[in-house]
Amino acid sequence: MIENFELLSKKCEKCSRLCSFLETNRKNFPDYFNNPVPSFGEIDSEFLIVGLAPGLNGANKTGRPFTGDYAGDILYNVLTKQGFTKGTYLAKKDDNFSLINTRITNAVRCVPPENKPTGEEIKNCNNYLKKEIENMCNLKVILVLGRIAHEAVLRALEQSTSKFKFEHGNIHLININSKKTILLVDSYHTSRYNINTKRLTLDMFEQIVLQIKEKLK
Ligand code: URA
Repeated sequence: MIENFELLSKKCEKCSRLCSFLETNRKNFPDYFNNPVPSFGEIDSEFLIVGLAPGLNGANKTGRPFTGDYAGDILYNVLTKQGFTKGTYLAKKDDNFSLINTRITNAVRCVPPENKPTGEEIKNCNNYLKKEIENMCNLKVILVLGRIAHEAVLRALEQSTSKFKFEHGNIHLININSKKTILLVDSYHTSRYNINTKRLTLDMFEQIVLQIKEKLK
């Protein structure tokens, strides 16, 4: 089922602005991946991380979420420190680096101009996130990086944004159905801007990941 869904994502033409941006990038950067970036990590993982969208010269270039992006340097550094990875992260798809019990995806799978997807693009892409979550049968914790990812996950789970407010460090208990409950953990995005302005420090982010590690024990 997940293979179908990845194929579907590759052929997606829902967002005309993002499709034409990909076309332009195929001309300007023929060596880049320039396609919807598929998720990274095993589908049977207990832990899902949701970012915003691929960076032009990072995930859009390498074809793996957060790979080659500044935000990925921070994310993978902390995940590695807390034992969620195997191998050495070399910022390229064939670096033999892998995730342990963790999967990473984005609220929007195609690189948006200036890193800013529109509301409509976020909605258009939500079905992929929804399918992703539905297919993660062992899912226990979702870490969202930033408010847009937080709202995209709530939409995918058909939950109200007024009930579950985004705030760095918030942990929400969400009943998906009568049998399944997941934890939604909020963090500021690991973007260069947030790190440079100290809105998010490495230490703050590490505390979040450490708490998740404890919850997954
Ligand atoms: N790269 C990604 O894949 N996602 C982000 O949110 C940022 C950079």
